[in-house]
Amino acid sequence: MREVGQSRRLPGVTTHSAPSSSFPIVRSQDPTVADLLIAEERRQASTLSLIASENHCSPAVREACSSVLTDKYAEGYPGARYYGGCEVADQVEDLARDRAKQLFAAEHANVQPHSGTTANMAVLEALAGSNGRVLGMALASGGHLSHGHKVSATGKLFEPRQYGVDPDTGLLRYEEIREIAKEFQPRVLICGASSYPREIDYAAFADIAKEVGAILLADIAHPSGLVAAGVIGSPIGHADVVTMTTHKTLRGPRGGLILSTQEHAKKIDSGVFPGGQGGPLMHQVAAKAVAFGEALTDAYKAYAHAVRAHAVRLADALIARGHNIVTGGTDTHMVVVDLRGHEFSGADVEERCKLAGLSINKNMVPGDPRSPRQTSGIRVGTAAATTRGLGPDDMDTLADVLDAIIRGNDPASQHARVAALCDRAPLPA
Ligand SMILES: Cc1ncc(COP(=O)(O)O)c(C=O)c1O
Repeated sequence: MREVGQSRRLPGVTTHSAPSSSFPIVRSQDPTVADLLIAEERRQASTLSLIASENHCSPAVREACSSVLTDKYAEGYPGARYYGGCEVADQVEDLARDRAKQLFAAEHANVQPHSGTTANMAVLEALAGSNGRVLGMALASGGHLSHGHKVSATGKLFEPRQYGVDPDTGLLRYEEIREIAKEFQPRVLICGASSYPREIDYAAFADIAKEVGAILLADIAHPSGLVAAGVIGSPIGHADVVTMTTHKTLRGPRGGLILSTQEHAKKIDSGVFPGGQGGPLMHQVAAKAVAFGEALTDAYKAYAHAVRAHAVRLADALIARGHNIVTGGTDTHMVVVDLRGHEFSGADVEERCKLAGLSINKNMVPGDPRSPRQTSGIRVGTAAATTRGLGPDDMDTLADVLDAIIRGNDPASQHARVAALCDRAPLPA
């Protein structure tokens, strides 16, 4: 039996190039779009995504995404729709909700959010109140736009305040957050991040929320799969509401999910529909049900453990090659590399990685002197590479490649090594 994280070749895929016969129906009608779809398949197959927020969902999830449910309007919730013909849609949504509740041991699930951002908007809409105070993590420290950043609707429709991390260690300072919360008195306190590689102390956040009478929202968009598999601690039982995306470590279709205690269920459901969205994307809801089913299996649990083990190995290998890793390592799927002291910005390294066939993203580091367009860091993650079948030893190869790119070697000289990994570990098909 193949071990998780060991390379394998899946049926129907022989090289990292996508088959040219793909999308025959689209091709017969619209060759322009078919060409673009094939180009993207080839791009994904022949480059390695180390983007921490990306993954490759299973063919079963993809098939559900392209099902006839895309044609079905189902505004409302199971048993209370605003359209006829929802008897199958009801069963699909009930199944997705039940599996989500089982997966995370949650009291209530709303599977309709189109994305992580609309999930957060819906929760704030439901629970912060008009112009209500919202305290979240600053984008520059690793937080997300939808946690009250001024360019986001969450920073315009509510009264935001942001907390940061220790500029030296990159770690959350819980007592400082407590002081800010005591002074600001938020209606909703948000924890969770886009770029924080360590476990978050949800009990500490719950304690702060309780002290100031705030509702605690934990956004686990990134590590949701690791939480589901029990690889890291869960906010359930600490947070009043939990939001996430379904397409990152959870390896489902693009979308959002909200979990809550029964106490907040009604308000949250109203916050999603009619508060922030119209009809749910029922094909995506079906695909979420498939993904939740997959995440309940032992195979998925083994995958999630491998994702974290690979990130730890990658961080260690980069440290061994003399690189500074934000917070000194990782507890999750994510590694943030501090490039200060090197010639290149995060934007430069992102571009150089592309020439080597690696897909990564530039990222701010705590106390970053550069702009968000340049940055002094990069963020990498192991979820997608582990899905493809890369193993622990491959993390050393990737550390070598990144090291060479960061230190100024010609990125093209690294391309063959990345291509060999892609060849050996094809996309799921
Ligand atoms: C912490 C966090 N919340 C929310 C989101 C938003 O998700 P989406 O892009 O689906 O709106 C992200 C996306 O990266 C995220 O990292």
